[in-house]
Amino acid sequence: MRLIIIGLGNVGANFVKLLKDRQADLTREHHLDMAVVGVADNGGYAFCDKGLNPETIISVKQKYGTVASYPNYGAPKASITKAIEDVKADIVVDMTPTNIVNGEPGISNIKSALLSGKHVVTTNKGPLALAYKELVNLATEKHLLFKFSGTVGGATPVIDFAQKCLIGNPVTKIEGILNGTTNFILTKMFEERIQMIEALKEAQKLGYAEEDPSYDIDAIDPACKLVILANAILGKKARLQDVEREGITKVTLDDILEASKQGLSVKLICTASNELLQVKPKPIKKDDPLCVDGVLNAVSFYTKLGGTFTLIGRGAGGMEAASSALRDIINIGLTTREGH
Ligand SMILES: NC(=O)c1ccc[n+]([C@@H]2O[C@H](COP(=O)([O-])OP(=O)(O)OC[C@H]3O[C@@H](n4cnc5c(N)ncnc54)[C@H](OP(=O)(O)O)[C@@H]3O)[C@@H](O)[C@H]2O)c1
Repeated sequence: MRLIIIGLGNVGANFVKLLKDRQADLTREHHLDMAVVGVADNGGYAFCDKGLNPETIISVKQKYGTVASYPNYGAPKASITKAIEDVKADIVVDMTPTNIVNGEPGISNIKSALLSGKHVVTTNKGPLALAYKELVNLATEKHLLFKFSGTVGGATPVIDFAQKCLIGNPVTKIEGILNGTTNFILTKMFEERIQMIEALKEAQKLGYAEEDPSYDIDAIDPACKLVILANAILGKKARLQDVEREGITKVTLDDILEASKQGLSVKLICTASNELLQVKPKPIKKDDPLCVDGVLNAVSFYTKLGGTFTLIGRGAGGMEAASSALRDIINIGLTTREGH
């Protein structure tokens, strides 16, 4: 399986490391042989038909800041879309930054890959939050696979669980805590009896929140994830602008303590059903399986035939998202080999 990897940041670099470390296992366990034939970052790209060395990719990126410095095969400031189209590969793995304004460069990368006959794996939420239907339809039209496990739930197989394990059992509602940073902040507010702003500072100190935390605390990140789940699992045609969204900035310590007196915890709850597409801070029962603390994520699937299933796991992290991308690639390898 010949891979092109676009984006060599936290997730992309961990993904290359994972490939290097697990290559022998993948061959032994699944009879899958993987070669990275191309890598790209903001500085340019490196392509080699015979395969690039993962260790060299990592060391060049660390030393020079861009894979375009890869000896003999690097090309600074070259057109990545053109390279995606021209290079012979099976799968394009897009790990570029989430952009919720226009979905770029992810949308162009994904379209170029599909239009030139390559399967796609992405961890980038932007293209799916803005253009889910268009991209999925293009993949279907081209008879190609398009997988995005790493966009929701980190390593926790939220999408795979619903699509594979619940097959034949319709999901009627999804409810979840889909953002670890805000869950950490709400947990800290209660545990340490502090206001949101102080808890946010702790989250920033520990590296859970960005310097500009609006993506998390204004609930943009969980809203993107909710759109992906609503479309992939409930068959909706939702976009980010369809989500009724309220972040955690107005939640006070008093709200949290008042809720606690009644056996409730305030959580940033994402809900998708026929009637609702919403992210909003809400009090939930402390013994609800959804009521997880710290950076954990939890998702409950309400089904027609089997009651409710809740999945709990670490929601983010470079290696976690990389492991989901690897799972997607293995699934593509197994599916295409079996000729499904
Ligand atoms: N980190 C997580 O825990 C996590 C979890 C799940 C999903 N995700 C998603 O996965 C994606 C990657 O996340 P990350 O944390 O790895 O981000 P990151 O550390 O910011 O890395 C992004 C990478 O994309 C490259 N890039 C930016 N613009 C590009 C362009 N026009 N063409 C080619 N490459 C470009 C950057 O290049 P330079 O290195 O040259 O700047 C960088 O290597 C994001 O969409 C994120 O939302 C992240």
